Parts: sequence; structure tokens; C-alpha cells
Amino acid sequence: MAKVATIEIEGKKYELPIVVGSENETAVDITQLRSQSGAITLDPGYKNTGACESAITFLDGEKGILRYRGYSIEELAEKADFLEVAYLLIFGELPNKSQLDNFYTDILDQSIVNEDMKTVIKGFPESAHPMGVLSSLTSALTAFNPKSVNVDSEEEMYRAIVKILAKFPVLAAWTLRKKKGEDLLNRDTNLGYVESLLRMMFQKGTKPYKQNKTVVDALDKLLILHADHEQNCSTSTVRIVGSSHAGLFASISAGVSALWGPLHGGANQAVIEMLEEIKADGGDTTKFINKAKDKDDPFRLMGFGHRVYKNFDPRAKIIKKAADEVLAQLGVDDPILEIAKGLEKVALEDQYFIDRKLYPNVDFYSGIIYRAMGIPTEMFTVMFAVGRLPGWIAQWREMRLRKEPIGRPRQIYIGETQRKFKMIENR
Ligand code: ACO
Repeated sequence: MAKVATIEIEGKKYELPIVVGSENETAVDITQLRSQSGAITLDPGYKNTGACESAITFLDGEKGILRYRGYSIEELAEKADFLEVAYLLIFGELPNKSQLDNFYTDILDQSIVNEDMKTVIKGFPESAHPMGVLSSLTSALTAFNPKSVNVDSEEEMYRAIVKILAKFPVLAAWTLRKKKGEDLLNRDTNLGYVESLLRMMFQKGTKPYKQNKTVVDALDKLLILHADHEQNCSTSTVRIVGSSHAGLFASISAGVSALWGPLHGGANQAVIEMLEEIKADGGDTTKFINKAKDKDDPFRLMGFGHRVYKNFDPRAKIIKKAADEVLAQLGVDDPILEIAKGLEKVALEDQYFIDRKLYPNVDFYSGIIYRAMGIPTEMFTVMFAVGRLPGWIAQWREMRLRKEPIGRPRQIYIGETQRKFKMIENR
């Protein structure tokens, strides 16, 4: 027998269906609640609201589990490469050799960005933040690819997906070169996805960029760890923008803007800035822990806490290990790392953080690795965006294929009730 929940509103009972997911997550389906009772549910920040059914990513924040399409993040980070994971997220299965080769070649074929886009980027001041530039450039791509995607055509959908996967890392690299006042490089088609990104970011003049395997492997892993995280702020943004049938590039551009904020992807930049501030202040971690606990002080410990993980973020565990390896292999001795370790130790033993289940999140360590790789702080969130791109695409594709309705939350109005207009001389 189908399970139901009963809700009583002002003495009247309503039965609502219960939906159970493949990992036994339970939801009360309230789609008919308003039409039956006139009432809506209220959930600011959507802390308890499922906005969709999705078959892409499973995460259990209490147990610290994260899986893409059923595969554990630990296994994927160890055994797969980024494009394999991108294919898995978007199309649902791991690619075989020929599928992966074709995917790779199709991406290569689309990696040239229209020369006129260089004129667009030239118009930005050098002070522009790379995330703002990336969001604008991604949106500008729509002008150079005006045809909207017919989602009923698998072929058209595939071509749009390949295009954005190909061009996005080029745009990402350009945001850095623009900032440094350097020439904008095109993709070198002899290099892999990650190698090519690094070359486009760091090559100096015509001197060939020397790849470092440690850096390439670590970046590949970081991109995998960031590739999807179910209905987070930027992904929900991509889905909701796409639900109006805005195109893929426009939806991704909105996702980039959502990711930028310091409470979301911008936290990796904020972590390093916080660690720098602690260092400049003399390195007293306890002082900053106390500031974070003080309710009259707006300071928060950046890189700590997560909306859904109330246990160690499984990605943070992998990144922490990778950070130790990368720093050892690159021979980096970074005082910021010592401060980070001190902060982590104090926070994990402090009752305030224990009670609120505030653990270091993925961004606490990712900034440290990016920094060791020589990636400037302002580019950290751009790197996150490159990693998150396959997730955004997968979620957009799923939303369109499932023919989800336009996203349009309701509200409870708490403003003035009707009142009479007063002429200006009477106010
Ligand atoms: N430092 C100090 N206190 C914190 C922190 C923190 N980083 N995070 C949460 N708290 C406290 C809150 O003050 C609150 O305390 P209270 O119950 O006494 O009022 C309690 O913990 C719960 O916090 P909420 O803000 O309600 O938790 P929410 O789930 O809404 O927020 C968030 C999660 C935004 C990630 C928050 O923990 C935060 O601001 N962290 C710092 C920013 C950060 O690292 N963001 C990256 C997230 S990971 C990602 O997006 C990839």
C-alpha cells in the first residue's frame, strides 16, 4: 500500500503521498497541498525542501557519503580522470574506451573560441574579478552561438554540451591572462583537458609551458571532487534559470554568479584571505576562533561548516591528503598551511564547533593546494567553476529531459495590507 502522510490544518485533515528515493530518503509530496487546503509550506533557504527528483548525485551529510551515479567519490578520485567523470555525470554511465575517445575528440574540435570574444574581454578593466568576467564571457557565448538547443534532439543536446565543455576552460584561462595583462592563448590540441588549461593559464610568451605531473594529477583530482554536489546554491540556480527554457550557456553563466559568493564557491578565496589575515595579525588562531564564536562579531571561520555535511566532508578528507602530498612533492613550505593546521586542530576540539557539527569543508584545503600550484587567490573560485561545470550540465540536462515545470516558489506576504494613495503634498 502506498505510504501517506496526514497533515491537519485548522481541524481539517489532508493526506499527502510519501515519495521514497532509491537510498530510502523520504519526502512528503506537497504538490496538491495548496489546491486542496489553500496552505503552502514555508522553508527559507530550502533547508527541508526537495526541489526535484534526481538520479545524478547521492549524498548523506550525516554519514559523510558522496556518490556520483552510484560510484563513491573516493573511488572516482582515485581511479578516474576528470573527463571520464564528466561523461559519467552527464550521460549516466562510465564511458567505454571508444566513447571516451570520441567525447575527447568532439571537445577538442569545439575548443576554438570566436576571436571576437577577445574584444569582449578586452573591454573589462584589469581590476575586474575573474568570476565576474567568467560569468559575462559565458553569457556572451550565447551571442556567438545564438541557436537555442532543441532538447528533443539528442544530437543537438550533445553538441551544446560538448561546446560548453570545450570553451569554458579557455574562457577561464583568459580571465587570468586578462588580469595579468597577457596575450590570450588558444587551446593546444595536443594536450589533455587539464594540461591544456594549465598551459593556457601559465605559459609565458612563446616559451613552452613545462607540465608538472604532480600539479596535473592534483588539479584533475580537485576538479573531480568539485564536479557535482546535488542541489547546492549554484546548481539550483542553473536548474531554475534553465527551467524558464533559457539556454544552456545562459544557465551556466547564472551558475557561475551564484558560485562566486563567499558562502558558496567563493569560500576557497575567503579561506586564504582569512589565513593571511591571521598571519598578519601575529598567527594567534585562538583569537580568531573566539571571534567566530562571538555572536556580536560577524566574523565566521571560512572553510568551516556546511549546509548538508554534519560530519566530515568526504571531499575534505581526500583533499587534505592530496594537499599534504602536493606540498611535499613540490617542496612548498607555506606558513599559511601551519596556521590552517593549527586552526583546524583548535576548532575540532572546541565545544562550539563540536556542538554545531562544524567540520572543515572542501574549500578549507582546496585553496591551500591551488596556492601551492601557483594559482592566484582570485582564480580559486574559477577553478571550482571549471570543476563544477559537468555537474551543472548534467543537472540542466536532467531537468530539461524530465520536462520539469518552471521554478517559481511562493511566499507568505508580510507587508502592508491595502492602503490609500497619498498625494505628494500630503506625505
Ligand atoms: N564559523 C562560525 N560559526 C558558524 C560557521 C562558521 N564557519 N558556520 C556555521 N556557524 C554557526 C552559526 O552561527 C549557527 O550558530 P547558532 O546555531 O548558534 O546560531 C550554526 O553554526 C548553524 O549555522 P547556519 O548558518 O545556520 O548553517 P547553514 O547550514 O545555514 O550554513 C554555511 C552553512 C553557509 C556553509 C556556513 O557554515 C558558513 O557560513 N560557513 C563559512 C563559509 C564556507 O566555508 N562556505 C563554503 C561551503 S562549502 C561550498 O559551498 C562548496
